[in-house]
Amino acid sequence: MNRGANGSGVNGSGANGSGTAADTDRAGAAGESASLAVEGLVAGYGEVIALDDVTVAAGAGGITAVLGANGAGKTTLLRAVSGMIKTRRGRILLADHDVAGRSPEQIVRAGIAHVPEGQGVIPELTVEENLRIGMMSWRRGPRADRVAALEEEYARFKPLADRRRKLASTLSGGERQMLVIARALLARPRVLLLDEPSLGLAPRVMAQVMDTVVRLSREHGLTIVLVEQNARSALAIADHGFVLNLGRVVASADAATLAADVALRHHYLGF
Ligand SMILES: Nc1ncnc2c1ncn2[C@@H]1O[C@H](COP(=O)(O)OP(=O)(O)O)[C@@H](O)[C@H]1O
Ligand SMILES: [Mg+2]
Repeated sequence: MNRGANGSGVNGSGANGSGTAADTDRAGAAGESASLAVEGLVAGYGEVIALDDVTVAAGAGGITAVLGANGAGKTTLLRAVSGMIKTRRGRILLADHDVAGRSPEQIVRAGIAHVPEGQGVIPELTVEENLRIGMMSWRRGPRADRVAALEEEYARFKPLADRRRKLASTLSGGERQMLVIARALLARPRVLLLDEPSLGLAPRVMAQVMDTVVRLSREHGLTIVLVEQNARSALAIADHGFVLNLGRVVASADAATLAADVALRHHYLGF
């Protein structure tokens, strides 16, 4: 179930089917929704196999939750998709173009932005300097475009606008989370990978972050992969969910079905 987001989010994605070398830069036009499919992915750290033949898919313009206990492999999955760690086997298809093996910079340019766990801002830079890092993948373009892009994020995240000249170290946890999401959006992605955005936030702030995620999907057609240990909150906004356990997918179903599965909740989701 994709709550109709699939149909409305895709604007003529059939136009990019030719698959030339130029697709390294961008698989399809900007502003277009894109699906993400991970097939048979194997990845790890030295001797540790953290992902063992993982296959997951995120529908274009939808919210896909990736759930599972601590150590299940959720963060490793996002790191592999964003090129931060090497994949040993498998494909990572962004709108049908395999981006496995590409560098993090190439993957950002292709349209995948990653918000790592832990609200990782650079504390000794100002809010605006942190945001500008998100535009490093832009090759060219007039200064006015960059200013306009920043203003767009300030309009989306008002607390950041008020604090644009302040050091990021002065921000609250919720504001830091806004900052890292805004920074990722400034790369103009079509797929946004979010690693535990609710971690450590007060319930009210967490609800705001989840609202933002919903708006990015519904209003902007962004394809969102939402990694959460807080399965209940994630399933409340997701279309589809996958459950990882010890590096393997143990369940895949629409969000309502997962949320209603008492045994699954008990064994893997902790609610
Ligand atoms: N940098 C690392 N070096 C070695 N092992 C790691 C590293 N990061 C994660 N792991 C291991 O990989 C497995 C998956 O971890 P991770 O992807 O962080 O899980 P999750 O995000 O679901 O909590 C765990 O067994 C963890 O100990
Ligand atoms: Mg993690």
